[in-house]
Amino acid sequence: MARYKVLILHGPNLNLLGTREPEIYGRITLDEINRRLMEAASARDVEIRALQSNSEGTLVDAIQDAMAWADGIIFNPAAYTHTSVALRDAIAASGLPVVEVHLSNVHAREDFRHTSLTAPVCAGQISGFGWRSYLLGLEALLARLDEEDSG
Ligand code: DQA
Repeated sequence: MARYKVLILHGPNLNLLGTREPEIYGRITLDEINRRLMEAASARDVEIRALQSNSEGTLVDAIQDAMAWADGIIFNPAAYTHTSVALRDAIAASGLPVVEVHLSNVHAREDFRHTSLTAPVCAGQISGFGWRSYLLGLEALLARLDEEDSG
């Protein structure tokens, strides 16, 4: 059995990565990000399951489902970062460590992206490192889980 189980959760429009505003998000596809994360996770004896949805309710459901099987979540809430009380509440209610990640540096962009409703209930936020934000998020989450395990 894997050491930990982690949900990789992608929010709205991230299914379009590869062709979506490549000057901001790069040319990497979501499948390729997931593939690289799978590779990194299996090298660390970690099982990951990845899910993308454009709908807020499905993302809430995925967080609630994760309470039954996952040790933590890497979450890019995309535009919902800046708007969603429902996702913030779901994260807080889950009791799971959640690392918020963004491909772009949201703090260097439009003012409305500087506010995250979700980050205050997350373990932390990683923003601006392209697809590697997810990889750094995974490292941070695993370090935190290891720390919890060792008391
Ligand atoms: C994003 C940043 C958000 O502001 C934006 O709405 C996205 C992607 C990122 O990964 O950089 O859709 O979360």
